[in-house]
Formats: sequence, C-alpha cells, structure tokens
Amino acid sequence: MTLRKKIVAANWKMNMLQAEAAEFVKDLLLEIDDISAVEVVIAPPFTAIAKVNEALGKAQNIKIGAQNMHWERSGAFTGEISAAMLRDLFVRYVVIGHSERRAMFGETDEIVNRKARAAHEASLRPIVCVGETLEQRERGNVEKILSLQLRGSLADLTARELRETVIAYEPVWAIGTGRNATPEQAQEAHSFIRHILQELSDQTTAEHIRIQYGGSVKVENARALMSQPDIDGALVGGASLDPRSFARIVLAACEDQEISELSA
Ligand code: PGA
Repeated sequence: MTLRKKIVAANWKMNMLQAEAAEFVKDLLLEIDDISAVEVVIAPPFTAIAKVNEALGKAQNIKIGAQNMHWERSGAFTGEISAAMLRDLFVRYVVIGHSERRAMFGETDEIVNRKARAAHEASLRPIVCVGETLEQRERGNVEKILSLQLRGSLADLTARELRETVIAYEPVWAIGTGRNATPEQAQEAHSFIRHILQELSDQTTAEHIRIQYGGSVKVENARALMSQPDIDGALVGGASLDPRSFARIVLAACEDQEISELSA
C-alpha cells in the first residue's frame, strides 16, 4: 500500500484583507508551528499572498497556494495573473477549476486543462477540482460527470505531472451549505476517481496521487472523512477562515496520518 502524505488546504475565496491575513497566520502558527506529518497549504486572494508569505517567515512547512491563474505566459490579458507571477510570489500550489469558477466564470474542462498544463510547465502544482451538482447526483450521474471532468481536465498530462497534481473532489451541493458528503459517499467517489486516474496513467501513479475532499469540512467531520482509505486531505473553505478551526482540521489529518503510518 502506498502511503500518501495528507494535504490540507485553506481556500479563503474572496475574503481577508492584508492585516487580517497576517493576524490569521500569527494565530495559526501558535497552534501548528511544527507540523510536518501532513502538508498544509493556504490559498489567500492574490492581494494577500505577499503578506501571508511575510507572516509565515521561516515556517517552511506551510505552503502558499493561489485560487486561480491564466494559462498564457504573458501578454494582453487584462486582469489576469500568470503562473510565473505566482512563482514570483513563492506560490507552490494553484487551485484550478473550482466549481465557483466553473459556474460563475464559465470555466470548462478544456480551460481547466490548459491551466493545469501551464501550471506544471511553471513547476506549480495544480489542485484540480471536480464534483457533481445535486441534480446530477439525483439522476445517478455522479460517475459519468466525474469521469468527463477528470478526462477533460487532465488530458495530456504525463504520469510525472499527474503524480504532482492534487485532485479535489468537491460535490457542488456540499460547498458552503453545511451539508457535507457522508464519509461513505465521499469514499465511494474518491475510489472511483482513483480508478479513472489509473485508466489515465497506471496503478502506481494512481496510488501516489492525493485526492482531497472539499465541501463543508469542519472540525466535527474532518477526522471521519479523512480516515477513509482514499481521502488524502481536505480543501477547506468556510472553516479555514478561523485559525483555530483550521488548525484543528490540520491536527485531525495529522492524527490520521500517524495511525496509517503505524499500521503500514
Ligand atoms: P466550504 O468550501 O468548506 O465552505 O464548503 C469548500 C470549497 O469551496 O473549497
């Protein structure tokens, strides 16, 4: 069995001014200063990235993510941000194809794919989001939708690039609603995602790829979700805006990681 290092990411969305971001990091470091068992990522809005980096100081175990990027390297794309610009701010991860961007900003699987490829070209690790709507779930189309999104979004990535990609399974009906997928529902989707990843590459590669769950993750449900065999961490929205609750979600991931290491 491959032991995957769990990855817990904070998706702040369009929240946090610079001073609030600095305060958050200061409080977070009081709680999880020396975590190394799991990977921790904070994805602030672009305008707070430099501040978060400054506030993290020497805390190398916490990495910075961005919430979006453009696929072109430079040029006449008013209002857009390139992978190189993110690298310039010491960003390591980038969330791509979040359902809010798919629904509100017209991002298709093809656009997600261009962005994922551009991220890898610039040595940024994409966190590629997939997930079905409630209507799609009720019609029994979860697997069909996940398969289409994964095949479209990850087209032409090499096995090495896939290993460095994180997938976030975020059922749209669970995002910001307080209604999380049950651990069993999430595990079922994650195991299916890993099966598609294997079809897109090979078994060893698929076993290395981390698949986060996202959608109303909070302190109360984090442990039960992340102890499922194919759930390798969490992408946390609302609960990531409070340093104490985000820290507790990270600690839940650490406990689970340690137990898996003991039993491996
Ligand atoms: P939520 O958001 O935790 O507030 O449901 C998750 C996300 O959108 O990434």
